[in-house]
Order: sequence, then structure tokens, then C-alpha cells
Amino acid sequence: MHTDLHTLFDKLWENYLEVTPSAQEIHRILGSTQGGDIVNDHIALRTFNLEKVGLEKLAAHFLALGYRECGEYHFDAKKLYAKHYEHTDPTAPKVFISELLVEAFSPEVQAIIRDLVGQVSPDAVSADNFLYSGTHWQVDYATYKQLLAESEYAAWVAAWGYRANHFTVNVNQLEGFDSVEAVNQALKDAGYVLNSSGGEIKGSPAELLEQSSTMADKAEVRFADQTLAIPSCFYEFAKRYPKADGQLYSGFVAASADKIFESTDAVM
Ligand code: NI
Repeated sequence: MHTDLHTLFDKLWENYLEVTPSAQEIHRILGSTQGGDIVNDHIALRTFNLEKVGLEKLAAHFLALGYRECGEYHFDAKKLYAKHYEHTDPTAPKVFISELLVEAFSPEVQAIIRDLVGQVSPDAVSADNFLYSGTHWQVDYATYKQLLAESEYAAWVAAWGYRANHFTVNVNQLEGFDSVEAVNQALKDAGYVLNSSGGEIKGSPAELLEQSSTMADKAEVRFADQTLAIPSCFYEFAKRYPKADGQLYSGFVAASADKIFESTDAVM
């Protein structure tokens, strides 16, 4: 496991950019001059709820760096469970980790996922690079499509493995924009497609969190039998509002996150 927070996030970011080149361009659109002036609100990671690779195994990498568990979320329709983590240093990015409830799927899908996870070496899960190590298994395109028919999330994890599913621009800290709406407009003007499931802006000032996201970039995946471009990762934008005590709300809104998951759906 990493002993330095910045090294871990730098590695996650480099790995994310490999399949999400639009993130660099989005920084330019948002007025970044050197990149470091865009503050990351949170990252999200995805996994399966099987013992070897479950949410807690991913979380261990962050707990070792001073993070603590701060909230849990249920997504019944998508058959997902999630927790979020915060660091004692409030300027450190928050971390949102979800896991697919494998037992809720058909026996065929369960067998596929158990086979994939069976190919992961237990040592790999605690290695420094696990959170940006990609896949540890071979999967062919037909199997990917079979997973896709039951769960877009399952198919995404099968294709992309362990990596940041998204980074999130902290809109409160942007100099040139003061609302999610203004960020959305700048992105649309530049030709980006936003996730419009549930509306372009998820959440509200009353819920203390507003979020939007791009639809995922497409990048090539080397399946066992062919190489194809499929949705990879996306960029999210979040504005937080103060609670009664004046501190900015630091949690997540389940109904909003539910729609954000759809940012890796294929654009029709
Ligand atoms: Ni997010």
C-alpha cells in the first residue's frame, strides 16, 4: 500500500488520463493554467462484493493513509452498495467506493464474475498499485456483452478493472465559474455530451450538493478475442453548500449518485 497520499492520487490520475483524455481539455475549458489549480472533490472506485476484492479491500488502501469511513449508500435498482471516506485533512479528496451485489444476479452472471475474480492473485489486492492496476483477468467480448445485458456496472468492471471511474472538479474552488450550471454550459459549448439522466444537474442547494458529469470517453479495451472502443471513464463536477453549522456538506446524495452511475452507459 502507498504511504503517501499524493503519490497514490497522482498515479490514479495518470491512469485515468490514459483512457479519459478529455479531462485535460476540460481543465483548459475551466480556466486551468497548470492543472494544480483545479481541486479534486472526490474519486470513485468500483468493484464486486466478493471477499477477495470487496469494497473493504479497496478501502484498506485509504484507511492506511488516514481516511475514515463516513457514510453508506444503497442502490437497490442497480444492486449496488457504497461507502464514502474522508481524510482528517479536509483538503484531501473524498473517496466513494461501490460494490456490485453479485448474489442478486442470474446464476450465469454470478459464475462469470466468480471466474473473473478467481483469476486475481490475493497479493495483487494489497499491492501499492492495485487501485490503478486495471483488470487481472481475461474476458472475451461476448462475455462482456452478456454482463452488459444484466448490469452496465458489471460489464464496466469486467472491461476496465481497478482504476478511478471518475475524478470530480470541486466547483466551489473554481475561479472562473460559480455554478454547476455555468460549468455545464461551457462544456456543452465546447461540444461535450453531459449525462442528462434525471436532469443535467443532480441534487439541489436544499440537498447541499449539486453534481453533473460528462458522458464517459471511449477507449480501446483488449478483450481476449478482439480490441474494441467502449465507454471508459468520465469527469464529474460538484458544488457543495454549507450545513447549519456553516461547514460545507461533505457527504453524497444517493438519488444523485444513482443517476451518475449511468455516465458510463453507451451514448445511443
Ligand atoms: Ni462522484
